[in-house]
Amino acid sequence: MRIAQLLKSTDYGTKVTVKGWVRTKRGNKNVAFLALNDGSCVANIQIVADLAKISEEELKPVTTGACVAVEGTLVESLGAGQGVEVQAETIEVYGTADPATYPLQKKGHSLEFLREIAYLRPRTNTFGAILRIRHAMAYAIHKFFNDKGFYYLHTPLITASDCEGAGEMFQVTTLDLDNMPRTEEGAIDFAQDFFGKPCSLTVSGQLEGELGALSMGQIYTFGPTFRAEHSNTPRHLAEFWMIEPEVAFFDLKDNMDMAEEFLKYLIRYALENCREDLEFMNKMWDNELLDRLNFVLENDFVRLDYTEGIEILKASGKKFEFPCEWGSDLQSEHERYLVEEHFKKPVILINYPKDIKAFYMKQNEDGKTVRAMDVLFPKIGEIIGGSEREADYGKLSARIKELGIPEKDMWWYLDTRRWGSAPHSGFGLGFERLLLFVTGMSNIRDVIPFPRTLKNAEF
Ligand code: 4AD
Ligand code: MG
Repeated sequence: MRIAQLLKSTDYGTKVTVKGWVRTKRGNKNVAFLALNDGSCVANIQIVADLAKISEEELKPVTTGACVAVEGTLVESLGAGQGVEVQAETIEVYGTADPATYPLQKKGHSLEFLREIAYLRPRTNTFGAILRIRHAMAYAIHKFFNDKGFYYLHTPLITASDCEGAGEMFQVTTLDLDNMPRTEEGAIDFAQDFFGKPCSLTVSGQLEGELGALSMGQIYTFGPTFRAEHSNTPRHLAEFWMIEPEVAFFDLKDNMDMAEEFLKYLIRYALENCREDLEFMNKMWDNELLDRLNFVLENDFVRLDYTEGIEILKASGKKFEFPCEWGSDLQSEHERYLVEEHFKKPVILINYPKDIKAFYMKQNEDGKTVRAMDVLFPKIGEIIGGSEREADYGKLSARIKELGIPEKDMWWYLDTRRWGSAPHSGFGLGFERLLLFVTGMSNIRDVIPFPRTLKNAEF
């Protein structure tokens, strides 16, 4: 039985077997107390070993970090704050953990240190809680869309097109880097590469997601995406997970409504289903976490034009590190000013200048802006990016030409606007940005089991 279940049991007197990792051992010459954890919850179960039954010699290898199986009797605990404990009859040691070398000895290691031993950090309370919340959020995402009749579409990870056009793609090749085949002109001959052309890891499943929406009506993707971004910040990963719904017949307003409903659903799900873990995170890392989660649930998101946002920023009198003029992309400091200081609520910023957004966004009549939307959250900045898509063949192909995007990579995407085009919209939620918000952590490296960032692909 898992410890989470056992701790709720009242079947006193029954024989039980528990297996897990020893967190601490203390005691005296008559009795030893082990705190055992198996990853199913924050709480440990207490194992009481009577030294008359289990010898000191047997208990010697049972140290912090060791893995053991305990057979014994479930009894009501007299200690404060714990319902049950196990009176051990036998303890089998599966694996010892030499106290001289096992790194997780004391409580309260720094997050920086734990990042260096990311392969062991799920054995700590903090990372146990984060990973359980991560699991619950992944499940809730599928549930949200399934209950609404969306289809989970698997879009490719290897692609020949750059969806965001930001040139941040990781190349995929089987060519011999020390001996590249060349064309007669001296260029690399990708015809000889595995796919017969240059390919990369995807930055987004959106383009193929649109094909799904324009056939099945409403789809979502949920998979890893890759960006060779050189920004080494607490909010950027080179490999992150993204959720991308795409819906036929949705305009920008429908898209905003869906984004707001989706985020609130996920936060409510966490509050209802991850209570213990959230309370632990609130106590240990961020005393305002629960308040912030409830606050987002209780308030409507502000919906605001980019142009108005710029005016507010300019009128703020605040000294920003980066300038903000109409036409420039907002930096995290600007986004957080709007959310945390000006409105004190999540903000959906819409109608951005077309030159700072991707080619596929629907062009507004003013000729200057596109129907983009970014959802901005307290402590995070941008959590969602999305838009209504350009459904008009002429406008889309003109924009593709204007930006110099090779049409040979995009012909299939353009074809959807040739045959049976329809208004449609979608967005991308960065899964780890969501988890930053829900767990209260402040570095994105701490909400994914094995982070990949600039100069770091350990484990
Ligand atoms: O705003 P982005 O670049 O939008 C897209 O990729 C669209 N194709 C989505 C769509 O409309 N279907 O990325 C979407 C979200 C961001 O808002 C952010 O939450 C997250 O993905 N994100 C990252 N998360 C972690 N590390 C990075 N390097 C990220 N880049 C984007
Ligand atoms: Mg974006």
